[in-house]
Amino acid sequence: MVFLYGMDYEVFTVNCLQKTANIINLMLTAFLGELYMSKLKSVTHTGSVFAPSPEFLNQANLTQEKLNELNWKAQTDYTSFWGELALEYITWDKPFTKILNETNTPFYKWFEDGQLNISYNCLDRHVAANPHKTAIIFEADDGHVTMVNYQELLAMVCRFANGLKQIGVKKGERLIIYMPNSIEAVVAMQACARIGAIHSVVFGGFSAKSLAERITDAKAAYVITADAQERGGKTLPLKANVDEALQILGDKSPIKSIIVNKRTQEDCHFEKAQDIWWHNLVKDQPDTCEIELVNSEHPLFILYTSGSTGAPKGVQHSSAGYLLGAILTMQWVFDIKIHSDIFWCTADVGWITGHTYVCYGPLAVGATQIIFEGIPTYPNAGRFWQVIDKHKVSIFYTAPTAIRSLIKIDASLPKQFDLTSLRLLGSVGEPINPEAWLWYYEVIGKKRCPIVDTWWQTETGSHMLSQIPGIDKMKPGSCSGPIPGIMADIVDESGNLVKPNNNGYLVIKRPFPSQIRTIWNNPELFIKSYFPKYIANGKYYVAGDSAYLDSEERFWILGRIDDVLNVSGHRLSTMEIESALTLHPQVAEAAIVSKLHDIKGESIFAFVVCKGTACPVGDKAHELSKELVKWIIKEIGPIAKPDEIRFSNSLPKTRSGKIMRRLLRSIARNEEITQDISTLENPAILEQLKKEV
Ligand code: WTA
Repeated sequence: MVFLYGMDYEVFTVNCLQKTANIINLMLTAFLGELYMSKLKSVTHTGSVFAPSPEFLNQANLTQEKLNELNWKAQTDYTSFWGELALEYITWDKPFTKILNETNTPFYKWFEDGQLNISYNCLDRHVAANPHKTAIIFEADDGHVTMVNYQELLAMVCRFANGLKQIGVKKGERLIIYMPNSIEAVVAMQACARIGAIHSVVFGGFSAKSLAERITDAKAAYVITADAQERGGKTLPLKANVDEALQILGDKSPIKSIIVNKRTQEDCHFEKAQDIWWHNLVKDQPDTCEIELVNSEHPLFILYTSGSTGAPKGVQHSSAGYLLGAILTMQWVFDIKIHSDIFWCTADVGWITGHTYVCYGPLAVGATQIIFEGIPTYPNAGRFWQVIDKHKVSIFYTAPTAIRSLIKIDASLPKQFDLTSLRLLGSVGEPINPEAWLWYYEVIGKKRCPIVDTWWQTETGSHMLSQIPGIDKMKPGSCSGPIPGIMADIVDESGNLVKPNNNGYLVIKRPFPSQIRTIWNNPELFIKSYFPKYIANGKYYVAGDSAYLDSEERFWILGRIDDVLNVSGHRLSTMEIESALTLHPQVAEAAIVSKLHDIKGESIFAFVVCKGTACPVGDKAHELSKELVKWIIKEIGPIAKPDEIRFSNSLPKTRSGKIMRRLLRSIARNEEITQDISTLENPAILEQLKKEV
């Protein structure tokens, strides 16, 4: 036992190297209060383990016995494990007879001859059981609250779905949704699902150019947007970006109509031939809309994400398998109790977390949830805690970046609010460093709430690794292990299991229902990206993360193995930013690397070579940096803007012309250069690269 803050903790010392955790610990020491840190250090360095309370376990959806049963069933009869769950949790119009089709690997098919409708599963079946139950509590940026119950939400979805059908939207057609986090965004997604159309939500922070790229790749025929969005007290345009995207596309634009929801009082450009106001579209529509039955494998949505190639990849998900993953994890990981919980996932619907744990998961289980339009720091850094207090949130799910930034601004703010309604906390998107974990556990969860550290990806559709709350002991920084049915392991290139405390590739060895089906328009890239020949000869789903198991079989995620950065829990491709930079008339070459960042996890560091002979210095360098930041905001969006830009005459390359990124990473991080530079073609460049101008 170790005595801390005057309280007892059960501490197990294990002989495991907490690699990632320790690096981030060092960075965080700088900003967490000295006193707090000195107390915390003794915890993290001994590798403390926190046991969930027996009270939680007593009420948990999964008991140890049930969990053992599920794991045993998954081990011994994998396909009927999934088949039985799919029959239990999904309402089918035509139940399936085949569970898994593996004939054309890795294009797996689940429940393929079954038919269903996702919107029916999310709405109608709850309306039948409990029509007046609140579905969504919407908290606007300015604090205004709107509530809709399941019956009202279904009526909104039906009216909008009828409107879509009236303007000619067909099953299988693609619609881009470019909207603020709102009830209407969920209505738009659910309406697409109701009529079997495929949505592709683009986060409102992406630029017109990014939007144009996605419209083209998805060959979308419609855009659903809002005039503008309100975030952090600011009004930011959306419709204007859509107009600009269409201008970029010119004659090649596949868009037939743009549906615009009026969110603000701002004027926005409106063209009668193409633009339709949302309120006019739904005005005379009936409150009911027959569902379109789809096959299990019908694509529910495409969501673009960054990979190691320059262009974003359209991750295509299925209907039934995706829904099953969302429902099971709401039950097992979030321990949802639909009659008493108020669930809040803070993610925007523009990301996978917002798809699965805002639009689909909570509705599919019939829960009550919060949708928040704003940002955690407006009007001040107490906003999250205020919303929890105001709406009596019981399950709270957010990203480590948000937690770290709120600690930094004012770690004492939560004390002003009543957070006793909370019973479970969650973390997603990036490794959570033990200091942030402990603060979350102590200050927000008051040591009563288990924390589920959920590892998953846009491609996996739902949680893969996580604590099972109430059962698994928690070790800050580790996401424990696979949930039932997920055959995750850590292997070397030959596919052999690596020994504990050794790094390897995180793989999932058996197909699972919620996994990506393909990359839209690019099945070859799908195989190359996720079933690469160089790992286990393409047998397993390769997540693209390196990880290790500690001696107690807990998973620790170390980071990406490809050229993907994780900035504030958002995935960004180095190639995509480099390509955007080189489009600037003054830029000849660019290389992007990441630098550790105390709040964002990683920050973007750009090395830039300009055209011509002179490398800009002083004011000129400063001016050009500012211009390049603006350029990136326009090309991709604010999330991709570099934090630092360094100019040089050339980049370090091998004799075969490859940029030595590891070297650049060491320079950006001010680390000693230890790697072999004998293959470097231009060693003299190192001195220039190290200098800030
Ligand atoms: C990282 C977000 C550590 C990981 C749901 C993964 C995490 C990528 C965690 C996927 C976690 C996600 N601990 N790392 N709990 N969750 N990641 O597609 O590198 O935006 O591959 O999905 O985020 O990011 P994506």
